[in-house]
Amino acid sequence: MLRGDTVLLRPLKRSDITNFLKWNNDPEVIQYLAMYLPMTEMAQEKLIEDAASRIQAGTGVIFIIEVTEGNSSKPIGPVALNGINPRDHNATFGISIGEKDYWGKGYGTEATRLILDYGFQQLNLHRISSSVLAFNERSIRLHKKVGFKEEGLQREAIFQNGRFHDHVMFGILRDEWKGH
Ligand SMILES: CC(C)(COP(=O)(O)OP(=O)(O)OC[C@H]1O[C@@H](n2cnc3c(N)ncnc32)[C@H](O)[C@@H]1OP(=O)(O)O)[C@@H](O)C(=O)NCCC(=O)NCCS
Repeated sequence: MLRGDTVLLRPLKRSDITNFLKWNNDPEVIQYLAMYLPMTEMAQEKLIEDAASRIQAGTGVIFIIEVTEGNSSKPIGPVALNGINPRDHNATFGISIGEKDYWGKGYGTEATRLILDYGFQQLNLHRISSSVLAFNERSIRLHKKVGFKEEGLQREAIFQNGRFHDHVMFGILRDEWKGH
């Protein structure tokens, strides 16, 4: 469990499937993730099993972001480091707040800072990569705010909603991470 001021990151549970089915079938959310197929219960179960296998193998970590509200807390989406490469000490960051009412309130920034800290301090990573669809202004601002550097642009790489979109590539090195 990783605790911040307004969010905590907790391990995945089987019962999270209900939340994932809601989040991963919401067109407003998945437009930013370049997903477009309906997410079935069977496919979602497999995704959760695969995530658990990656944790076992040491190739990925995933947490559920929870917002503390009085005595209870509300799960709002996953945050993850995938493709953990122990030789080169790098990994790829991903986040998706599936509860739209919780967008733009600073929770994504705090969850990102917590998992970057975990990646650099606990997993001993040297570099964390990420990529963002060019129209996802909220995510681009988040990346720059926490210290990611823009490293390139894959032009018209992703087809979404009837047209091709640029994909912005980001990276952050351990030395650049000062708990931004
Ligand atoms: C992208 C996402 C993780 C950002 O988290 P969040 O909690 O909503 O964002 P934050 O409140 O931490 O704000 C991050 C930045 O976006 C800005 N922002 C907020 N709403 C915005 C909007 N509607 N348009 C542009 N920027 C906006 C904030 O002001 C902040 O930047 P600043 O501090 O420099 O001003 C979250 O919105 C999300 O998961 N969205 C859906 C899926 C997705 O896009 N995942 C990421 C794929 S790369």
